[in-house]
Amino acid sequence: MTEVSIVPYDAKYRAAVRDCVFVTGYGGDDVTPFFTDRELFADLLTLYYTDYEPEHAYIGLADGAPAGYLLGCADTRVYEETMKREVFPRIFKNLARGRYRIDGVTARYIARGLLSQWRGEGMTPPLEQFPAHLHIDLFAPYRRLGLGARLVGAWLDDLRGMGSPGIHLGTSTAHTQSHGFYQKLGFRRYAVRRFRTSIFKDRDQRDLYGVYYVMSLRPHQ
Ligand SMILES: CC(C)(COP(=O)(O)OP(=O)(O)OC[C@H]1O[C@@H](n2cnc3c(N)ncnc32)[C@H](O)[C@@H]1OP(=O)(O)O)[C@@H](O)C(=O)NCCC(=O)NCCS
Repeated sequence: MTEVSIVPYDAKYRAAVRDCVFVTGYGGDDVTPFFTDRELFADLLTLYYTDYEPEHAYIGLADGAPAGYLLGCADTRVYEETMKREVFPRIFKNLARGRYRIDGVTARYIARGLLSQWRGEGMTPPLEQFPAHLHIDLFAPYRRLGLGARLVGAWLDDLRGMGSPGIHLGTSTAHTQSHGFYQKLGFRRYAVRRFRTSIFKDRDQRDLYGVYYVMSLRPHQ
């Protein structure tokens, strides 16, 4: 029987977080067929949380070894500002120094992501009501053991303790396991948006939709 537990994030788990985001980056599966540079992928998706808001990250352990993470952000406006001021400049510096290997596959993924942003296809639920957000991923062998629910529960408890009014998150139709999970935990579907060009188009012809969930943390009146 696997023993699961959750602990606060510590820098010793940074490599495991970066590994996990990569091997779950395609709807819960390895993103390698679509994005080949592990460092760039991890920098884009986890650097903010591990390096600028580590106090709101949690690690799931299975028999003492990292099984996955929840990366939390208490105020998405701070995230957006820090991405512009700190994280993207770091990434651009690494790019200029040739620290990433951008092949054709990776370049197409990035171009599609940028195009979609430029078209304004994604969305953010209202930040006055739902300022916090989260990302959660578990390595495949450690799913359906209750770890995800415990990780989200810990983050929601912390947010309630901080007096946060609410939380949002974005997932996609490629993340087939996430919808039942978020709905079971009490998140409400807020919006669905179709991406004209799926970032996974190279090998996956299905339409891709962004799906956005919210949860109010205000006690019921
Ligand atoms: C989504 C994910 C974080 C859920 O974590 P988990 O530890 O597997 O989920 P839990 O065991 O805590 O499940 C809690 C409840 O959520 C629901 N749930 C979880 N996974 C589900 C699935 N695949 N399908 C339907 N419902 C699901 C169930 O009601 C479950 O309760 P039950 O097991 O008693 O029936 C995990 O499966 C995962 O990392 N998946 C791949 C990556 C991913 O999709 N991440 C989210 C990106 S936005």
